[in-house]
Amino acid sequence: MTHAGGHTERVKQRTHEGFLRHKHFMFAQIATALCVVAVGVYFFTAASLDEPPSGGSWIGYILGTISAGLIVWLACLGIRKRVITSGHYSLKAWVSAHVYLGLSLTVLATLHTGFQFGWNIHTLAYVLMMLVIVSGALGIWAYATLPQRLHGNRGETTRKQMLESIESLDRQMHDVAQPLDRAGAELARMSIEDTELGGGFWTRLTNGYGNCANRRAAARLRALPPASNPAQAEALTKLEQLMQQKAEVLALARRQMQITAFLEGWLFVHIPATFALLAALTAHIASVFAYW
Ligand code: HEM
Ligand code: HEM
Repeated sequence: MTHAGGHTERVKQRTHEGFLRHKHFMFAQIATALCVVAVGVYFFTAASLDEPPSGGSWIGYILGTISAGLIVWLACLGIRKRVITSGHYSLKAWVSAHVYLGLSLTVLATLHTGFQFGWNIHTLAYVLMMLVIVSGALGIWAYATLPQRLHGNRGETTRKQMLESIESLDRQMHDVAQPLDRAGAELARMSIEDTELGGGFWTRLTNGYGNCANRRAAARLRALPPASNPAQAEALTKLEQLMQQKAEVLALARRQMQITAFLEGWLFVHIPATFALLAALTAHIASVFAYW
């Protein structure tokens, strides 16, 4: 996770400098020009034929070769990121090119297929490519929007402060629970000891805390029969208030962890899907040449 964390930091910085706008959208323009030419040539060729040119036509071969070349080059970003760079800006240009040329594959590779899809290895390669592209786009969206939300959500409260306030609420619950009978004390213990703040990656990403111990304890507390004496009643009311406050802090902290998980999580799709794509693509190319 340390890798992904450092990575997020770096990209956030880069977003700030604007890799999307790099050199006045130079790579966006190149990618668009590439797509326009490809669409033009494709449909010009198609007009003179009875059916759309397939992957096996001359234009299909050209588009397929360009697409495969681009994919291999895009996949090299992982390597490029890890070698010592001659400067920050060269990497910025790489990421800019990566994003726009990566997006252009939706046009180039789709034209290559001649819109012929089926349940086969060729379409598998295509689907994996789309998965990589969509996850990349989600990553860009995440970098562009989530850090502000993280900031907005957090307000003036930092992660450390949140943890401290949960600890402080736990201590207060412990004190308030002293005069309580067994049933009440057990609920305080449940909230203090069994509440899980973070949990696994999936739990954080989905904000899936339906079974939160603090919430269950609060629900059971509300369902308790009326207290036997005023001291008990007062302690129970205080305990309920504390649980409510704790629920609010927990919700805020978990929302923050959800955002952080998303900022890191898209790469867990982007990178493995890239490897699967390279494998499927190799099989696709090998199989078409095998049946040549
Ligand atoms: C050097 C690169 C490539 C070569 C030489 C190549 C070759 C071919 C050939 C010859 C066909 C026609 C097969 C047929 O008509 O039965 C084809 C179809 C296809 N290619 Fe490629 N291709 C390349 C790259 C790619 C890439 C990058 C993708 C997508 C990720 C892709 C996805 C497909 C799909 C989905 C079809 C349609 C298959 C079908 O007819 O069911 N190809 N390719
Ligand atoms: C088939 C096309 C693509 C392939 C094979 C591909 C592959 C990769 C690989 C291997 C990395 C390096 C990850 C790492 O090691 O940390 C990467 C990073 C990245 N990709 Fe893609 N990618 C593709 C398309 C896209 C698209 C279309 C977008 C955006 C719309 C995108 C956005 C990103 C971003 C933002 C990064 C992180 C860059 C950084 O850390 O500086 N990718 N991609």
